[in-house]
Amino acid sequence: MKTFTTRRDIREYLTSQGAATIGFVPTMGALHNGHLSLIARARQGNDITVCSIFVNPTQFNDPNDLKNYPRPIAEDMAKLEQAGCDVLFNPPVTEIYDDNEQWHLNIGPLEHLLEGDFRPGHYQGVTQVVYKLLDIVKPDNLYMGQKDYQQFLVVSRMVSLMGIPVKMVMCPIERETDGLAMSSRNIHLTPAERQHALVIFKTLNWVKANFNIDNLPTLQKDAMAKLAAEEGVQPEYFSIVDGKTLLPADANSETVVALTAARVGNTRLIDNVLIK
Ligand code: PAF
Repeated sequence: MKTFTTRRDIREYLTSQGAATIGFVPTMGALHNGHLSLIARARQGNDITVCSIFVNPTQFNDPNDLKNYPRPIAEDMAKLEQAGCDVLFNPPVTEIYDDNEQWHLNIGPLEHLLEGDFRPGHYQGVTQVVYKLLDIVKPDNLYMGQKDYQQFLVVSRMVSLMGIPVKMVMCPIERETDGLAMSSRNIHLTPAERQHALVIFKTLNWVKANFNIDNLPTLQKDAMAKLAAEEGVQPEYFSIVDGKTLLPADANSETVVALTAARVGNTRLIDNVLIK
């Protein structure tokens, strides 16, 4: 695997590869099998697979979260080598941002719903960095996980607003054998919290099994109550929404998705299931 830390060097290398197709997996590191499944998917569909590891400061609204975000770069590089990734881009913050850089993109309602409501400014930071990374890597295909469902929609919107010639590919959520969605944040869970966190997937499945478009408010309320009843779990939202707009689902919704965020101890987890 070739590793680059500057824009100039990675651009020079990718340009030298001519017409080779590029699959890109942007990450913030602390890689798990979810990320590696994106690498595997990118390898299947492209000549060159590029992964970026960059803990993006502009998407964190809690400075402690940014400070404590895991950064096991040596382990990550070993995992990428093993997964057959061709190129790693691992820039320092100064390579991506100038001082006092401003960014604002009108993403519409998607920005302020659900995650956007609990993490103000988060999607401005995400679009800012993904725009820059796409401009550097210039991939043909961009691979992102269903776990960050809203992020996928937000980035798709940015790609279409900015006319970026890249195909977005959503890859399924990878789960531990007991159902917990893989996440870089899971390492912060104590063994007891890890057990309590299973209520999230169980509740999503319960909602899927009991889905009834005429009964969404009750279903959402009951789901919130189930999460809150679990020791150490504080739900932030549980919403059953239209899979394209993230507005409340109705009979015309072609896709319906249930999305939730909850704090388990000090760790904030998100998860979702496609219902229809
Ligand atoms: O999903 C993530 O890890 C990040 O939000 C992303 C897309 C790499 C942007 O920093």
